[in-house]
Amino acid sequence: MPNFKPLVFSGVQPTGNLQLGNYLGAIQRWVALQNDYDCIYCVVDMHALTTNPLPEELAQHTREVAATFLAAGIDAQKHIVFNQSRVFQHAELAWVFNCIARIGWMKRMTQFKEKAGHDREQASLGLLAYPSLMSADILVYRATHVPVGGDQKQHLELARAIAQKFNNDYSRRISSLKIGIEIQCVKKTETVFFPIVEPLISTTSMRIMSLRDGRKKMSKSDPSDLSRINLVDTADDISRKIRKAKTDFAPLPETEKGLETRPEASNLIGIYAVLANMDKNTVLAEFGGKKFSDFKPALVELIVEKLGPIASELRRLKQDPSYIDCVLKEGAERASALAEKTMKHVRDIVGFS
Ligand code: AMP
Ligand code: TRP
Repeated sequence: MPNFKPLVFSGVQPTGNLQLGNYLGAIQRWVALQNDYDCIYCVVDMHALTTNPLPEELAQHTREVAATFLAAGIDAQKHIVFNQSRVFQHAELAWVFNCIARIGWMKRMTQFKEKAGHDREQASLGLLAYPSLMSADILVYRATHVPVGGDQKQHLELARAIAQKFNNDYSRRISSLKIGIEIQCVKKTETVFFPIVEPLISTTSMRIMSLRDGRKKMSKSDPSDLSRINLVDTADDISRKIRKAKTDFAPLPETEKGLETRPEASNLIGIYAVLANMDKNTVLAEFGGKKFSDFKPALVELIVEKLGPIASELRRLKQDPSYIDCVLKEGAERASALAEKTMKHVRDIVGFS
């Protein structure tokens, strides 16, 4: 029975330098998936426009994020790396999806509620429609697997709902044009055009929290640079930021249970655990009972060991912006060819002549 060819798609917004949370929550996984899947990795600059960036900064960050993908080990020859705005089919499919999705679905999104703030009427239409464009990013390639951090789960559920509604609304047309793919549903076989995407959210990759406030996510858009470890940070930067990272005054607990009411301690132990590929209890077996001043130097050493090679490769790549432009241009050409194949069918399905 024909089925969708497994294909991985994911994206990161070029809203700043990538930070440790992006690496541990997403990019590290992307690198690993390259061995088992065809992958498309995208710098989603159209999404970043919802944050009103300065034009020069948007262009600069787009190149930097692409360079970080490469420095982290993404193979742009074997897979595809490009920036979203170069492939117009994303915007074209997003419009079709705007006519499929319901306003209510969009208004329920936690990210919209958080980013729109109190005065929702003043939020941009782009911020509201953001998940529709995100669904188009994935489905314009008919990608089947999407690795993201836990914060994107709700958006992927929406992508599944949009795909399902499109498949239903146009089921007669999809069958009569004979361009559907048969998939096995619970009891029967269905002929669909878009796959129902699988989120790949690893349970082990935790949310990395801010170094200044253990209840806030580490984010590249946080105004305080001390709140995060950037992938471009030098060993000195890392050491300074970890030394200044907020902690409490008690010694480290002996077991994970003792971290429950201590978000900052929990975060630092968590970062150590993910980087060392251990669980938190194993880390605490070594550091339990010790002071933060004993633990922090070990954490600095581990972060520098893991991120150092990425940072130095990134510095090397940044000296050659024309190389990055070349990778993005070539990636966009390959992505466009794939996206156009899908869009030819979509135009037929919806009745554009
Ligand atoms: P963003 O920086 O919001 O464009 O996110 C890019 C990817 O990194 C998404 O898959 C996020 O889920 C992931 N991510 C961003 N910040 C964190 C964090 N602090 N902890 C874990 N994952 C994160
Ligand atoms: N919304 C995602 C984020 O903020 C970025 C993104 C845009 C994305 N389009 C995507 C992620 C498609 C995965 C697939 O992290």
